[in-house]
Amino acid sequence: MNKIKQSTNYKFSGFDTVQLAKKYGTPLYVISEGIIRNKCKEIKTDFLEKHENTRAAYASKAFLTMTMCEIIESEGLGLDVVSGGELYTAIKAGFPMDRVMLHGNNKSYDEIEMAINNDVGRIIVDHIDELYFIEEIAANMNKTVKVLMRVTPGVEGNTHKYIITGQKDSKFGIPLDKDTIDKAVSIAMESKNVELLGFHFHIGSNLFENDSYVTAIETVMKLYKRLKDDLGFHAKELNTGGGFGIYYTEEDVVKPLKYFTDSIMEAVKGCCNDLDLDMPAVIIEPGRWIVGEAGITLYTIGAVKDIPNIRTYASVDGGLPDNPRPALYSAKYEAVVANKCNMEPDRLVTIAGKCCETGDILIWDLNVPEIHRGDILAVLSTGAYNYSMSSNYNKIPRPAVLLLSKDEERIIVERETYEDLLRKERITF
Ligand code: LLP
Repeated sequence: MNKIKQSTNYKFSGFDTVQLAKKYGTPLYVISEGIIRNKCKEIKTDFLEKHENTRAAYASKAFLTMTMCEIIESEGLGLDVVSGGELYTAIKAGFPMDRVMLHGNNKSYDEIEMAINNDVGRIIVDHIDELYFIEEIAANMNKTVKVLMRVTPGVEGNTHKYIITGQKDSKFGIPLDKDTIDKAVSIAMESKNVELLGFHFHIGSNLFENDSYVTAIETVMKLYKRLKDDLGFHAKELNTGGGFGIYYTEEDVVKPLKYFTDSIMEAVKGCCNDLDLDMPAVIIEPGRWIVGEAGITLYTIGAVKDIPNIRTYASVDGGLPDNPRPALYSAKYEAVVANKCNMEPDRLVTIAGKCCETGDILIWDLNVPEIHRGDILAVLSTGAYNYSMSSNYNKIPRPAVLLLSKDEERIIVERETYEDLLRKERITF
């Protein structure tokens, strides 16, 4: 028997999500400022204040708006940007440029020039050719740029193959073959306009184990030792990237931040002792870990289609354009029927998006109570790589982004309109 308990609405960060859906419409990205700030505080207590000479930068590709820049700035973190657009957002938000790091495996002349012009803190050099390119641009501008070199330590993180990046066969980073890396470091050491401070690696994203970080650190620290002995290069910094995994579903065995950062610091210290090296500054770059669990997406359920003895599809008013992760990475999510969250979930439905695409399924086999058109679905842990990877496929306008603060909620990105969709089109007939 389907027992109906008292039906209360699902609350997120203290707010009634059904009321939010009514007031702002759906689909709606909802982001909790409190959760983001708590994550930043955890970084401060468990990493920055616990270990000397450490820094943390938020990987803005996970979720970037000018308001997010303000939050990150006020928490004292740095910002990792990967394109002119991300850099522009940080500039417009007044983010302190000395805390910005520019990444990217194919930075354009304009992007590098913009970064140097604005005195960004670090540029992360992705390959040897780019080193010449940055040097040339910096020389033309009569400036010196502080850089780290991104390397591929040859470590494969245990995650989806589209988001592993530390392996040698990768479009990112400089491989650690002796000739290649020695050449890159020698060029940088001779350069007047590039100051090489150390190396950067990023093994992959959504990782749940610390062993690949430790292996990568051991590899890079041995390299620091060899470069010191062979070339007289003294590395002052080590950036170990981001990638700490978060909770999406019960399958995820989530570890606290310090599980990763303590082992990172232990590995760096251990290597410095064993190899007689000075301790470098250690930098981390989490993206998903800061914002992933701080976001949910609210949808309205529309068509419910039952195929007897096969499955029931419940379609929502968004899908692949606001969350391409299930289609791209087979990513899994949990969700609740927000207006029925105290009702017994006694059946399975598959949550489909509204795109003209068979692969537009948000959740296979979700446990729900009886559902109907008009019910509100809250998909959880959608704060990272949802808004930032959204598209207008099928000419579907992007949802608004609503920020929940202590006592107030405010729209930080307006819902796109049909007009917005045509704004850049030119009629040529
Ligand atoms: N640093 C670098 C150099 C990176 O490339 C990335 C992510 C990060 C930091 C932050 O990684 P996180 O802490 O967020 O895992 N779109 C994919 C994720 C791509 C990540 C790309 N790089 C997804 O939705 O899972």
